[in-house]
Amino acid sequence: MTDTYVGAIDQGTTGTRFMVFDRDGQVAGNAYEKHEQFYPEPGWVEHDPLEIWANTKAVVTAGLADAGLEAEQVAALGITNQRETTLVWDKDTGKPVHNALVWQDRRTTDRVEELQDEDKVEWIRGKTGLEPDAYFSATKTEWILDNAEPLKLQSHRASDLHDRAESGELLMGTIDAWLIYNLTGNHITDVTNASRTMLYNVHEMAWDGDLLAEFGVPEAMLPEVRPSSDENLYGHTDPDGFLGAEIPVAGALGDQQAALFGQTCFEEGDAKNTYGTGSFYLMNTGTEAVESDHGLLTTIAFQRSGEPVRYALEGSIFATGAAIEWLEDVDLINNAAQTADLASAVDSTDGVYLVPAFTGLGAPHWDGRARGTIVGMTRGTRKEHIVRATLEAIAYQTRDVAEAMEADSGIETTTLRVDGGAVKNDFLCQLQADVIRTDIARPEVDETTALGSAYAAGLAVGYWADLDELRENWRVDREFTPEIPVEDADRMYSRWDDAVERARDWARE
Ligand code: G3P
Repeated sequence: MTDTYVGAIDQGTTGTRFMVFDRDGQVAGNAYEKHEQFYPEPGWVEHDPLEIWANTKAVVTAGLADAGLEAEQVAALGITNQRETTLVWDKDTGKPVHNALVWQDRRTTDRVEELQDEDKVEWIRGKTGLEPDAYFSATKTEWILDNAEPLKLQSHRASDLHDRAESGELLMGTIDAWLIYNLTGNHITDVTNASRTMLYNVHEMAWDGDLLAEFGVPEAMLPEVRPSSDENLYGHTDPDGFLGAEIPVAGALGDQQAALFGQTCFEEGDAKNTYGTGSFYLMNTGTEAVESDHGLLTTIAFQRSGEPVRYALEGSIFATGAAIEWLEDVDLINNAAQTADLASAVDSTDGVYLVPAFTGLGAPHWDGRARGTIVGMTRGTRKEHIVRATLEAIAYQTRDVAEAMEADSGIETTTLRVDGGAVKNDFLCQLQADVIRTDIARPEVDETTALGSAYAAGLAVGYWADLDELRENWRVDREFTPEIPVEDADRMYSRWDDAVERARDWARE
């Protein structure tokens, strides 16, 4: 019998990856393509959805070739994606009415402040588990419906967009829905992605009529919400389409939830932190939606067909890997790998703190007007100090959310599973263990995001029998335990809050 595999499309902020996994969760094929970032105005970030779809087709084709597989050997496809990034498209032509507004986009900060002034924060948090912020899809959808035409990207008048959305001619979706629509023709999203829109009631498990009215989003334009691992399948790829085969599309998870699933954090109290553009620290809280008193989000972790949803607490940190990219952009480093050598060339930052609040601050501060800052420089400050301060900022931001997580959940994390591009850096992993005083476990397969969505799709079609089979696939590559004395860690961390204070509220009008 020909061997079969599961494929995962991982559509991230900077690029699109396709990976093929075997039954042991090992990588059989891999392809990646970057896409363009558009910054039309300061604080605005857009992606071209058509470029993303074109890249998706290209990497799926290239990834299968890399694995030496025919499309028929793919038992199921899973999808994972940058969350919150929002677009609206024409149901019949499949043409977007505007570029996608990326999760990092701050253009709707004024609108969020209006909600704060109107005392709607608790009301929204109660329904969605989210801290009202421009980060989520609600104000982005509202903005597109109100503004797409004035930007002259479409021939329709602005008011037409509302009418057309009302009649179901226009569809809204996050990137998972966009890819599912293009792959299968069906307008579907999964519960984890729905939980990031600020339009979905995570307790009632339904689009929330009050919130739809608040943001002027007609229900007719919203996708059907399905489990993350769906035995009923989202649909099949078109045999006459680019793959030339009918493959079930059976799983989808927002990328951070996918990493939690790929790290096999299936039990209450299991936690992971993913170091990508930002860092996203999620703890599984089981079937209970734990409310946060410390600036964390309550979100949906995953749902399997016929089972109740599992919730998570999340600390969303907007810029960590982005800070390393910035070091490269300003020529302080040539590549990310260099940061370890440069940072370890000095014993400390000599009092320098860098706060990478380029697109505001997420958890636990939620300050859309914060901006990046470097404080404490002297004439003796060298680039080594700044590079080290950048890595320390990644570790401190994680400590901020780790402390909030413990306070909210009452659970002390003893081992934190980590993944994402930056954890290849041993120096950073050791620093992280030192700063948060927790063991750090790095798995063998570090592409846990793609793996998680492959698991979701594979479980749905019976490729893997159960969660135990997946747990057996998780193998540690290396563990890092705290090495420096706790007093030293506390001393390093002690002025971090002061530095954050200086970054806050900087972009006020
Ligand atoms: O919430 C945003 C997050 O999903 C983006 O993740 O890995 O694409 O930077 P990433």
